[in-house]
Amino acid sequence: MSRELASRASIFLVGTGVVGGALLEILRGPRGVDVAGVANRRGIVFAKEGPPIPPSKVGEIVGKPRGDAPAVIDDDLLDALATLPNPVLVDATAAGAIDELYLRALGRGIHVVTANKKPIAGPFAARARLFDPSNRARGARLRYSATVGAGLPVIETAKDLVRTGDQVKRIDCVLSGTLGFLSNAIASGTPLSRAVAIARQRGYTEPDPREDLLGADVARKAVILAREIGATIELDDVDREPFIPRDVLDRATPETLDKELARLDADFAARAERHAKRGEKLVYLARIEASFAGGGIRAYAAPTAVALDHPAATLEGSSALVAFTSARHASDPIVIRGSGAGGAVTAAALLADVFKVTGLA
Ligand SMILES: NC(=O)c1ccc[n+]([C@@H]2O[C@H](COP(=O)([O-])OP(=O)(O)OC[C@H]3O[C@@H](n4cnc5c(N)ncnc54)[C@H](OP(=O)(O)O)[C@@H]3O)[C@@H](O)[C@H]2O)c1
Repeated sequence: MSRELASRASIFLVGTGVVGGALLEILRGPRGVDVAGVANRRGIVFAKEGPPIPPSKVGEIVGKPRGDAPAVIDDDLLDALATLPNPVLVDATAAGAIDELYLRALGRGIHVVTANKKPIAGPFAARARLFDPSNRARGARLRYSATVGAGLPVIETAKDLVRTGDQVKRIDCVLSGTLGFLSNAIASGTPLSRAVAIARQRGYTEPDPREDLLGADVARKAVILAREIGATIELDDVDREPFIPRDVLDRATPETLDKELARLDADFAARAERHAKRGEKLVYLARIEASFAGGGIRAYAAPTAVALDHPAATLEGSSALVAFTSARHASDPIVIRGSGAGGAVTAAALLADVFKVTGLA
């Protein structure tokens, strides 16, 4: 049967943590998607005889002790994956140098679907290689809806505005489920260090929570969005003020982070009280501004005090908000808000992208 006519997709999942684990959970139901293989930093399993692999095999690598030697997904494995119906490589890691794996997959006609912002927000030239039209000519597509706003239709909205000829003038966003959760928890009296521990426990934070606290995660999302509206912007071009002072995060290790944060508890509580007295709330806002006259696009992110009736101040838990102001939506921006972090919503966004790249939607 030709790939296009096959009614099932075959995924190879890299990363079995909060997001990858949630995806495996969703795929226990009849979704028309077979798990052909799974990899994490502890091992790799692949159904050589054809998918799906039995859940016990997945359990084998998920249950293995931790190690730091990432599984090697070699060309033989990719060649075998490429022969399966509608093959898709799904990236649910936060790995840095994974572009090369994407290129090897795309080059074989294997679609790539990712929740990992790093390759999409990485150097512009490297990203351009991932979107080379030759990949599409081989039938392979790359989608990354889950990288901004988890399960919210943020990327798709940006794309639709641009491809229908609208001019996006400004994008205002609360893009970090983690920082949104922290802002809310601190505003309602939870100490900073405790709030970070809860966010970690609930799977809202990046694998290394310093990425959230530095604003690096938000900056990557801002880069991804700015590029959707035509910017050739790099990560360093995003002006940002971290949520937690940089010197504290620079000296913290993952092991000492809790202790360093506890030293800031009183400061953050006092600041929250000051803002509450003024009828304000501190939120971590990012803004992308396009000035079409100059042709430039500017992006910045910082903790910002907003009035309590500002839409960003009304977000609860780990919710996210993105407001697009464009030539056509000038006086009443398109506002997208909802759950912006967490395993289940992000995994669902990955699965929706699997359906879209394979045409099974
Ligand atoms: N959590 C969210 O709400 C959310 C929302 C949107 C996007 N995302 C993105 O989704 C991705 C995954 O997040 P997560 O919260 O699921 O992280 P996580 O719980 O830390 O899981 C990461 C997984 O990736 C595996 N991994 C890391 N480097 C690898 C490598 N080089 N080769 C193979 N496997 C590797 C890890 O292996 P081990 O298990 O062996 O350590 C682990 O299974 C991140 O890029 C994150 O930014 C997350």
